[in-house]
Amino acid sequence: MLVSGSGSNLQALLDAGDDLGAEIVLVLSDKADAYGLERARGAGIPAAVVRWADHADRAAFTTAVCDAIQGAGAEAVVLAGFMRILSAEAVERFPLRILNIHPSLLPSFPGAHAVEDSLAHGAKVTGVTVHFVDEQVDHGPVIAQRPVLIEEGDDADSLHARIQQVEHQLYPEVVAAFAAGRITVEGRTVHWEEPS
Ligand code: GAR
Repeated sequence: MLVSGSGSNLQALLDAGDDLGAEIVLVLSDKADAYGLERARGAGIPAAVVRWADHADRAAFTTAVCDAIQGAGAEAVVLAGFMRILSAEAVERFPLRILNIHPSLLPSFPGAHAVEDSLAHGAKVTGVTVHFVDEQVDHGPVIAQRPVLIEEGDDADSLHARIQQVEHQLYPEVVAAFAAGRITVEGRTVHWEEPS
């Protein structure tokens, strides 16, 4: 799992326990002070830091991140609030094996300020998207989406808090289905198979 901040989505996956049907073998951050690393250590999961500033460019940073992921024996990558854009090498090395969670209904409000942007736009509904990562930012095939209503008087904190409640339910469901091999992709269309 790749995190840059609090790691509350990481915590939701940890809390899923055996229901996840997957082992988290590494939590990696671009920030040494990401609280998500503390959560990993607390759960006995190896935690690693790959600093943006230690690398010449995005390509070198991406190679270092991918090497760490591969070195940990990971078969898939779950982005949870990882706020760096990886180069195309990541998708080449883990094709349709990188999942991301984003706090809007893509393709509305891509980017690093989705919650603020939805409020500034005056949207009445936003939500959560889980998608496969492709070569473009916040663009890959959509795996799951859930709506969240924007209420009168919402600010970024209040809206993000309700969005995160939905994230914490949805991401474990998606990761469990993915780990069980129940998610398949045809072009941009993602199919969910029923549990057997
Ligand atoms: C989450 O709300 C996630 O959707 C968002 O960062 C937050 C991380 O929270 N991701 C993005 O904005 C990606 N563009 P967390 O560290 O508590 O899981």
